Parts: sequence; structure tokens; C-alpha cells
Amino acid sequence: NALRPHSPLSEITTAKTLEDPWSIMLVASEQAQLMANLAKLINASKTIEIGMYTGYNTLNMALVVPESGQVVACEIDDEYVNIAEPFFKEAGVEDKITVHLQMCIKTLGHLTYISDPPTFSPQVLWSGKVVDPAPDDLTSQALDKLNKKLHTDQRIDLSMLTVGNGLTLAIKRYR
Ligand SMILES: C[S@@+](CC[C@H](N)C(=O)[O-])C[C@H]1O[C@@H](n2cnc3c(N)ncnc32)[C@H](O)[C@@H]1O
Repeated sequence: NALRPHSPLSEITTAKTLEDPWSIMLVASEQAQLMANLAKLINASKTIEIGMYTGYNTLNMALVVPESGQVVACEIDDEYVNIAEPFFKEAGVEDKITVHLQMCIKTLGHLTYISDPPTFSPQVLWSGKVVDPAPDDLTSQALDKLNKKLHTDQRIDLSMLTVGNGLTLAIKRYR
């Protein structure tokens, strides 16, 4: 009874993403729902998705930002973009979403509206592998490094939630 996904969101999960060999990358539905509720709480009108994959969380955000809102989605793999875009249309939110098919670092460098947004960083526990990353596991090592960096960063307030595969909230401190 906890999940209430909009219909195209369920379709992204069942119809397309689970056929993909990399479906482990898909955001957890309960984590996405929490991020959407947090976005509503802070009246977010602009969001940035770094790594869109098949579009679950991008659509999730587009459904909660206002009509005039914008969701910028970064993705490097056109196969994933081709899967995602019909669902954006089906949900009637395609006008709110701009997909940038290139390395996110390029897109982020050109965005003028990044100020000091709260950041929601999913997958931070990576199935627990961040606790003791294997020497050849670069993903777990990178996530472990990020978690440690955020932990000591006094410029932000921090919460690491054990929802889904781990979700970090990083909120810039103003005082
Ligand atoms: C963990 S998945 C993201 C899951 C997604 N947010 C969701 O809603 O299910 C990571 C995605 O980031 C993309 N990616 C990886 N490196 C990237 C980069 N440098 N720039 C843009 N996208 C990148 C990958 O192709 C992959 O689709």
C-alpha cells in the first residue's frame, strides 16, 4: 500500500527496463516516490537528472513540477533516450523535459539556473558494497568516496536514508 506510481511510470519499469541487461540501474520506486514528495515539499520547479537511464525518475519529477517547470535530463546512451521519450509523451509532460544526449559534465557547465539546490543522490549504499569495496569495484569505490566526502562537508546538512539502495539528501547551509 505504500507505492502509488502514475501509470507510465509502471510501464517504464515493467514493459521496457526489466528487459534491459542493466536494469539493476533503475531507481527504486519507493525512492523515486520519496524524491517526488520532497520535490513537492520544497516547491521545486526546476530539477536536473544526472543519468536518466530509461527515464523513470525524470518522468517522476516532470509529473510533480508545475506546468511551467523544467526537468533537464542528462544521458549518454541514445538507446535509453529512445526508450524513455515515448513515455514522456504518453504522460503528457514532454514539454517540461529537455534531454541532453552528451556527457553530463558538458550539460551542467551550460546550465544557468544551478544555484544551490538541495541534492538527492540515490544508490549511495549500492547493495552494501560501499562498506568494503573490492579492489576492482570502481563504482563502489567512487560511491564510498562520495559518501565520505559528503559526511565531512560542513557546507551542507546531510541525511542518508536507507530507502531503496540508499538516498542521500544534501542541503546547502546558509548559516
Ligand atoms: C544508475 S542509472 C540512472 C537511473 C535513473 N536515474 C532512473 O531513474 O532509473 C545511470 C545512468 O547514467 C548514465 N550515465 C553514465 N555516465 C554518464 C555521464 N557522464 N553523463 C550522462 N549520463 C551518464 C548511464 O548511461 C545510465 O543510464
